[in-house]
Amino acid sequence: KVAILDAGAQYGKLIDRRIRELKVESHVVPLDSKPEDLQGKYDAIVISGGPGSCYAPDAPKFHPEVLEMGLPILGVCYGYQLLNYVKGGKVEKSSKREDLQETVDIDTSSPLFQGLTSKEKTLLTHGDAVVEVAPDFRPVAWSKGLVIAIENQGKKMFGTQFHPEVDLTENGVAIFKHFLFDIAKMSPDYTPESRHEAAIAEIRSIVGTKEILVLVSGGVDSSVCAALCREAVGPEKVHAVHIDHGFMRKNESETVQVALGKVGINLHMVHCADDFAKARTMAKGVEVGPLEETVAPEHKRMIIGDTFMRVTEQAVRKLGINADNVYLAQGTLRPDLIESGSHLASSKADVIKTHHNDTALVRELRAQGKIVEPLRDFHKDEVRALGTELGLPKHLVWRQPFPGPGLAIRCLCSDGSCPPLLSKEDMHKVEQLAAQYTKGKLSVCQLPVLTVGVQGDCRSYKSAVALSLPGEPKSSDIDWEQLFHIARNVPSEVMSVSRTCFMWGPPCTNDSEGLLDVTPTYCTQDVMEQLREADSVVTEAMLESDLVHTLSQVPVVIFPASFGTKGNRSIAIRPFITRDFMTGKPAVPGQELPFEVLDSIIAKIRQVKGISRVVYDLTAKPPGTTEWE
Ligand code: XMP
Repeated sequence: KVAILDAGAQYGKLIDRRIRELKVESHVVPLDSKPEDLQGKYDAIVISGGPGSCYAPDAPKFHPEVLEMGLPILGVCYGYQLLNYVKGGKVEKSSKREDLQETVDIDTSSPLFQGLTSKEKTLLTHGDAVVEVAPDFRPVAWSKGLVIAIENQGKKMFGTQFHPEVDLTENGVAIFKHFLFDIAKMSPDYTPESRHEAAIAEIRSIVGTKEILVLVSGGVDSSVCAALCREAVGPEKVHAVHIDHGFMRKNESETVQVALGKVGINLHMVHCADDFAKARTMAKGVEVGPLEETVAPEHKRMIIGDTFMRVTEQAVRKLGINADNVYLAQGTLRPDLIESGSHLASSKADVIKTHHNDTALVRELRAQGKIVEPLRDFHKDEVRALGTELGLPKHLVWRQPFPGPGLAIRCLCSDGSCPPLLSKEDMHKVEQLAAQYTKGKLSVCQLPVLTVGVQGDCRSYKSAVALSLPGEPKSSDIDWEQLFHIARNVPSEVMSVSRTCFMWGPPCTNDSEGLLDVTPTYCTQDVMEQLREADSVVTEAMLESDLVHTLSQVPVVIFPASFGTKGNRSIAIRPFITRDFMTGKPAVPGQELPFEVLDSIIAKIRQVKGISRVVYDLTAKPPGTTEWE
């Protein structure tokens, strides 16, 4: 096993990924982990990069005795500087920061760099530099006169200023292979099969002869978790519960039930759309609700979260489950733990974890240590591989992350009143940006939405605008690069606008008074039906074209713009690409989303009854969150 001492690196998680891809188990642990917590548990140590300066008085540090444990060590970026500094070398501030891919000089006689060429492309990002190599170490790579790698072969200690874990370091994987297999003499035995077996053994050893309760949303994590539990203790001892709150996607609950039935999991279905629609809750001492009349996104989330707890308790009571006899299985994944450990989890990430898994019963079980989390060492793609091995169908295994409150937070509600308009000045600024488009004349209109999710509560972003072209351009006729360029500039130049979209259909500008055309909209089943239809167009197209591997998540959002047809609404699609869900970018049509697939999606959604227009969200995160509210 490899311990990754975490110095706060942006790329720390990638080190973990790279090592695990080489089938070696790795764990991200605090930089100041005590030697006794590492001794005997790990075979090698990687010290990650980080934003600090190792010579600063408050610099993050490791226990120097860690270097005396006889374990092979690889320091990366900050880890490299710290290793050199602690061993008696000198590190100073450079005259300027470097953040670029650089061709560097390599001494290929170093065991770390065997088989590489003497010139290698690497990613360097640093503001400090090693200016004097520590005694007993020798330099083994250079860039622009600076030493950027050192080694002490006898003590098996190595350090690189560049990042071997990123794709921009072209032979980074080879460097990790040399470190793990040649230097640390580890074996690539952390295979899907061995991990599958280990997960089963763990569940059995924790649960013994008792029973398991698992809440299954139909997402890949909870489904795989349920399938593992079934294999470990047998179907009769697994109670799998699915709550259908009325905001699932088209046929989703039924599909999940059938799919899990096929692998021997009998889901207890709890259909309670009515309970949710009528539900109320307390928000900061004031009663809010019912949900079917609520507009504010935070209130909707609170009502749904609280109701979820209530109906889960009822379901568990109905099933006659006894807390003394049951363990709770959760599909918590490794990124969830890493993120919370490194304090990077957003408040929403907390919501994701607590709201579904925090009923009174859950808390009771947790306090008694009766929670089983067999996937806590898996990443999403590893869970998908395991799900496939367990025989779960493709559409379940490749289901995209779906928020707990479901389609309810993809329905932008409104009481029908016109939201505040963009000032003439701001509208003019957007129009000026839009005038940069050279393939035709872009029209600009404001969308009648108030809440258009922004990351953090920075600035006063609150509006969305749509750009459109005359005629009915095919998506291959549109210059997407220019549109994305404009969309990137809108939020930085017009502080009140957070989302920029492209809109199909006849161009429209807000009328002479600037009034926006708003249809009263709430999370009612008739609106959900429209949204479900539009969403199923996208879901089916993605499965048919195998885009589930390319696009990380594609929220489909209904919003209350009627565009002149009384009672109509509109749809936004947000094809989104992200690895970590903390930052991300919109998919580029013609690259990550084939033109013909996009054109067919748009044409089909435009046929959904009561839908006026379809828009494509061009906004990156930040500033725009994945979801619209
Ligand atoms: P944002 O919109 O913050 O979303 O970029 C990041 C990820 O979290 C999901 N998400 C939620 N999941 N309850 C959930 O269970 C929520 O209230 C919620 N809000 C956002 C979102 O779909 C994305 O995967």
